[in-house]
Amino acid sequence: MCGIVGYIGNQPAVVRLFNGLRELEYRGYDSAGLAVLQPDGLRCFKTVGKLDNLATKLGDYESSGPVTAIGHTRWATHGKPTEANAHPHGLTHSQVVHNGIIENYVALREAVETPFLSQTDSEVIVHLFERHLAAQAESTPNQRVESSSATDDPAIDPALAAFRATLDTLHGAYAILLISETAPGRIFFARKGSPLQLGFAEDGCHFASSDAPLVGVCSQTLYLEDGHWGVATPEGLTLFGADGSPAVLAPKPLPASSLAARKEGYRYFMEKEIYEQPRVLADILTGRLSKQAVLLDELDADWLRPIASVTLCACGTSYHAALTGSYLLERLARVPARVEIASEFRYREPVLDPNGLFVVISQSGETADTLEAIKLAKAQGLSTLALCNVDNSSIVREAERTLLLRAGIEKGVASTKAFSAQVLTLWLLALYWGQERAVLSGERHARELSALRAVLNVMQVQPRVHERLHRLSKRYLHGHGFFFIGRDLFYPLALEGALKLKEISYLHAEGYPAGEMKHGPIALADAELFTIALMARSTLYEKVKSNVEELSARDATIIAITTEYFELADDIIQIRSYGHPMLEFFEMLVVVQLLAMEIAIRLGNDVDMPRNLAKSVTVE
Ligand code: M6R
Repeated sequence: MCGIVGYIGNQPAVVRLFNGLRELEYRGYDSAGLAVLQPDGLRCFKTVGKLDNLATKLGDYESSGPVTAIGHTRWATHGKPTEANAHPHGLTHSQVVHNGIIENYVALREAVETPFLSQTDSEVIVHLFERHLAAQAESTPNQRVESSSATDDPAIDPALAAFRATLDTLHGAYAILLISETAPGRIFFARKGSPLQLGFAEDGCHFASSDAPLVGVCSQTLYLEDGHWGVATPEGLTLFGADGSPAVLAPKPLPASSLAARKEGYRYFMEKEIYEQPRVLADILTGRLSKQAVLLDELDADWLRPIASVTLCACGTSYHAALTGSYLLERLARVPARVEIASEFRYREPVLDPNGLFVVISQSGETADTLEAIKLAKAQGLSTLALCNVDNSSIVREAERTLLLRAGIEKGVASTKAFSAQVLTLWLLALYWGQERAVLSGERHARELSALRAVLNVMQVQPRVHERLHRLSKRYLHGHGFFFIGRDLFYPLALEGALKLKEISYLHAEGYPAGEMKHGPIALADAELFTIALMARSTLYEKVKSNVEELSARDATIIAITTEYFELADDIIQIRSYGHPMLEFFEMLVVVQLLAMEIAIRLGNDVDMPRNLAKSVTVE
């Protein structure tokens, strides 16, 4: 997702910010920019695409002498990846960079009543700041804050007071850096829900949205906490808590290498991506849940109304999300839903409903089979919708409408956070559509909304569970195969659990509907057949239990993922009880992801780059 850097000091700023942005490059971005404030004025440079484009635009420009500067890499959420939408955003006197989402930006834009240069939610921050600053100036004329004479009391310092007043009006999540000609040598900063940190070195003060840009630059860092805001100079900072009282932070040592810093302490990117799922889900829900409804600005009732059926089409993990989505769409929106594997769909001369919606799901947006499938559906006149993690990708360009997944770049070849993002987005889509079609009872609708609100908590990895999976993994490194079994929503989850395991451990694993085992695969059952049973209390529990009993009677080794004691299980991985299928789904998802990873690590495999696989499959 987006990245932030900042610098105040006397050394060349452009090279410093640019190196910092390079360190954030691995996260993915679609545009980038810098703003540099020097005694002779404020300059801003922005480009779409790679950092090399920004380098070309900067040419040999470099600052000299005292400088205050901020930089940003953007991953589009509000507004297309264009130069105007790239950060920093600014007016004549001030510039801002922002990560996160300002939920009330529409109302704030209307209140500000000035022309906007971008379609972003972020630009409103700088308008508000300048308005508050102008109001302060009117009440205390001729006051200009010089860095040497700056006061750090918001009651006296107009720029700090204007910054505080701006923060008071923002709802949502943010990491913000703001610079202003009225306060040279100072960076105003705030953090709520999006990471931001800083460090001091001999050459000045450095800001970043993660460790990587600070490694090798500062030996220690201060991780700002939610609600922290204040102002920094090259020599020090003034820090406040959310209530405006002074705050103190202890410096923490930085990792030794930038590769380690990018992994943020995790052993593999896959592990980091599993752990960051709650943050991803929070980003997806931001601005999309009101007290009474799901809001999806990308869609509207008029567009959905004529649609009579839906076909979901994808490959690999995204296909498993599609299958999960088909259960949700039929259940919550009461729309007939079918699911297609893209590589099969293309060549079987499919008969499509001309009033149907064709939904493609893809992390990369470049999967060749999925891309061809959407072209085929378009050619037959269907409405098209893409659920995709990469804006401006080929699939997004092809689709009539898009729901971006907001998962940030996924480095691990084995997809984890993109899958949870796909499933959550499909859940939102199903509920939104159900609302529009008025097919859900008030009670059912309220129950879904409250489950959606609980999902972030559910996806938080519990150290107890991770430790248990780590210990258990050593018992399952041999055998002649794994069966992941489940019913209903837990069948696609079984498929996904099996795919994760085979991708990174190279052990044979299959996902199967639990009720189908007795129609053939049960012939394989013996003590060397490991059955991972997804036993959701909320969904057909007794039925799955019987299916597991049948396997246990044939001596299969049973690993039960469930909420309670189950006497036939050889090992139990206990999960929390929620009573809602989707909450059990997300909690079990973390378990199957971690189980696959722990087994693969014990086998000595590189879980981020498994053999024979590519992150994006752009060939048939
Ligand atoms: O980028 P896409 O979502 O279209 O990719 C589809 C599959 O190639 C992908 O999900 C693949 O199965 C992953 N390696 C799963 O971990």
